[in-house]
Amino acid sequence: MATAVRQSGMEEPPRQPVDYRFPPGFQRNLLWFALRKFRPVNPIVLFQQLADTYGDIAHYKLGHRHIVFLNHPEYIREVLVVQNDNFIKERTVQRTKLLLGEGMITAEGAAHRAQRLAAQPAFHRQRIVEYAGIMVEEAAHIRDLWRAGEQRDIAADMMHLTLNVVARTLFATDLRQEVYELAAAINRIMGLYNFLIMLPAAEWLVHFRPPGLAAFVRARNRIDAVVYRMIDAHRQSGLDRGSLLDLMLAASPGNDEESSQSLRDQVITIFLAGYETVANALSWTWYLLSQNPDCELKFHGEVDSVLAGNPPAFEDVPRLRYTENVMAESLRLFPPAWAMGRYARNDFSLGDYFLPARTTVLISQFITHRDPRYFPDPLRFDPERFSPEAKTRRAKFTYFPFGAGARQCIGESFAWMEGVLVLATLAQKWKLRLVPGHPVEPQPLITLRPKYGMRMTIESR
Ligand code: HEM
Repeated sequence: MATAVRQSGMEEPPRQPVDYRFPPGFQRNLLWFALRKFRPVNPIVLFQQLADTYGDIAHYKLGHRHIVFLNHPEYIREVLVVQNDNFIKERTVQRTKLLLGEGMITAEGAAHRAQRLAAQPAFHRQRIVEYAGIMVEEAAHIRDLWRAGEQRDIAADMMHLTLNVVARTLFATDLRQEVYELAAAINRIMGLYNFLIMLPAAEWLVHFRPPGLAAFVRARNRIDAVVYRMIDAHRQSGLDRGSLLDLMLAASPGNDEESSQSLRDQVITIFLAGYETVANALSWTWYLLSQNPDCELKFHGEVDSVLAGNPPAFEDVPRLRYTENVMAESLRLFPPAWAMGRYARNDFSLGDYFLPARTTVLISQFITHRDPRYFPDPLRFDPERFSPEAKTRRAKFTYFPFGAGARQCIGESFAWMEGVLVLATLAQKWKLRLVPGHPVEPQPLITLRPKYGMRMTIESR
């Protein structure tokens, strides 16, 4: 840099060393620590340790990278909202491009804005009203499939249910034939996710299909085949059903390889974001209800009195208040999107600290939602925390299961409605009990899944 000469011939002034001010944190470099132990660090354990030891903001290094972990609503607001323009998605999110390509979650800048704008009409209130019927139909299908006394993996059932809902509502496609194949391929990829994010140069290695990555490519090809079939069928039908897929087709009308690839990326992103998250939210909710019989009783009471034995409809959703609070409390304790990461483009300040460009900023819903400063007795399941009075008392940015700011979840209203309608439909007939001895452990992958599934016994109410 000292020898750099500007085009004008003038010498560039020597760069002043910048006085960064880092928050307190671990002295040891976590990369060497993980390598010495021969195992990856569990991120939830790490984040909890950082929050317990250093409080609102903590710093550590992973190899040459600076990382700060935030656990204070003001810092969280700064990064997600106030200084949002200075941040892009961080490296582990970028890695999901191996599956998602340049969809709405991974795209940045103008490409992101264009996709969000094109998809927005599919998430408007009027459109979501039309989805309610399909959500209830799909829940009723599972309700009628279940038999009293049988043991099932509820996590798998919820995945199949929500996959069908997304396919029918947003893509006007019936995927019942393919749903098991699709879910199996996605499970395979989820299982490889931690390996993929640790692997240096995975984007390049994937072309050579070394062991591990070959399984990933096979699973991705299976998903692609279903998605391309769906896109082709839509194109050939020439019909505009007003679905999200029609909006996407209208926004990228070309039929060349580039447009097809872009469409594929957009479709897969919505699929994954729209079904995994809701399915996990529902599985955790059934588990929490089974462990909290008083809340379950209140929930059943509401479902019975509001619905009076009729199937739920869109108009019932605002009256199923307690059901919504049950889901909200489940999203607090087991947020499917359990962490978010950003990467700083330029130097930036947070409170008293001054941090360099290329710093990674991590925020975890799982940790902040369980902070006793914002949620006293945080491990207790208590849907009353979401009564209107309790909500107004709580500071903003202490509860953010759907993120915040310009990248806030586009499917939030869709998810609330689906969650409430599915819970109510199934609870009209059944209650679920955890199979004794079944281990329940949250696994922080792209979403927060129950690591061993959720084996429950179906009981008549
Ligand atoms: C309980 C269910 C859900 C949860 C907890 C959830 C959570 C989130 C979170 C936290 C983000 C922001 C990520 C970030 O800023 O880094 C996000 C983004 C997104 N979500 Fe959801 N989501 C859910 C359901 C859905 C549904 C049903 C859909 C679509 C049908 C969807 C589609 C998306 C998309 C496309 C984005 C990217 C938005 C953007 O970057 O502009 N999500 N979601």
